[in-house]
Amino acid sequence: MARTLNPSTGPVAYGPVAMALHWAIAALIVVAGILGLLHDSWPKATQAFWINIHAVTGLLILALVAARIWWRLRHTPPDLPPDVGEFSARLSYPVHLLLYALLLVIPLIGIVTFVWHGRVFDFGLVRLDFGVKSNRAVFHPTENLHGYLAYALFGLAGLHALAALWHHLVLRDGVLMRMWPSSKRT
Ligand code: HEM
Ligand code: HEM
Repeated sequence: MARTLNPSTGPVAYGPVAMALHWAIAALIVVAGILGLLHDSWPKATQAFWINIHAVTGLLILALVAARIWWRLRHTPPDLPPDVGEFSARLSYPVHLLLYALLLVIPLIGIVTFVWHGRVFDFGLVRLDFGVKSNRAVFHPTENLHGYLAYALFGLAGLHALAALWHHLVLRDGVLMRMWPSSKRT
């Protein structure tokens, strides 16, 4: 899974599937994150509706992340550009690993919180009811944990995005373009 420095003749950028999944997941995290932060602000009458939208968005993220990891294990990422320093090269791997871990664990804990709150998934045409009675002893700690881990994800993804912009605007080493759909690339 680790990347090598100093490219040889391999591809210079991630493939279209990896890029599409990266940006779709990033956009959905913004949506799920904003909905999550607004949970307590909705009027009581519409709160369950919005929590369901948040949960369904989160399930979609979980499915895309699973697909992303499956794809990633079968496709070696491109070598890093030669200008990238040893520090960035070594740091990026554990950061990406941690992002993947958070992207898996947060939705799973969200599912426990949702189900043990006695809530029912409503997918429009289909409803999924696990018949679990609301149990505060379960959903209260998992809700807190889900929230704290989501904040950690926002922080880490924010630093990750800032690092990508730093590479692009200051170091100008071509790291961002590896994940940027561009027709100019050869
Ligand atoms: C990466 C995906 C997700 C992110 C970023 C996310 C983020 C958040 C955030 C920021 C909160 C508010 C925490 C707080 O107020 O301290 C929250 C609450 C919650 N999330 Fe998620 N979430 C995700 C996925 C899911 C999934 C998949 C489910 C369920 C299937 C879920 C269910 C919930 C529930 C039930 C709450 C508590 C709502 C309440 O106040 O009753 N989340 N989430
Ligand atoms: C919630 C938001 C985001 C998440 C969860 C996320 C997650 C990830 C992960 C897990 C990877 C590793 C790819 C792999 O090798 O498997 C990655 C790569 C990358 N991401 Fe993000 N990302 C987010 C937002 C952004 C943003 C906003 C930018 C740009 C401003 C960005 C730029 C990049 C770049 C350039 C790479 C390739 C890095 C490299 O070549 O080593 N990401 N991202």
